[in-house]
Amino acid sequence: MELTKKLSDAFNAQIQAEMWSSNLYLSMAVHFMDQGLDGCAHWMKKQAAEELEHAHKLIDYAVQRGGKVQVSAIDAVPTEWASPLAVFEHVYKHEKHVSELIDKLMDLAVAEGDKATQDFLWWFVREQVEEEDSAKKIVDKFNIFGVHGLVCIDKELGKR
Ligand code: FEO
Repeated sequence: MELTKKLSDAFNAQIQAEMWSSNLYLSMAVHFMDQGLDGCAHWMKKQAAEELEHAHKLIDYAVQRGGKVQVSAIDAVPTEWASPLAVFEHVYKHEKHVSELIDKLMDLAVAEGDKATQDFLWWFVREQVEEEDSAKKIVDKFNIFGVHGLVCIDKELGKR
């Protein structure tokens, strides 16, 4: 059974979303590099690379299932944030948004009766639990330690 047209289109949208996420985190990495926060920049570069892996995972699966994959232009991403905390709050908010996108993709796979795709997407459902959790923990650290803890947090994020 090949991917239905609806699922193929939805995969293309998710591939775009993952690539946009990768660019968002790369932009955040550059923002941190400009500020000399090398640990935060390192964390963001790793995050950007992970998002690209997510896009490739979706591409490989969609092609394997006979989907019509399209690599399209990616919209511009933000480049400015008010503070390091604001950056990580943005990460947390964005990951919650991505979780909703994955849930909708799963709902569509259920509606289309595509069990193989449901099985494939469970990996992404589990991954989003981790993604939200790691972003929230960093936001919590900033809220507990404040700007005075920035040096320690930067050092810790550099170990990712
Ligand atoms: Fe690919 Fe961070 O979700």
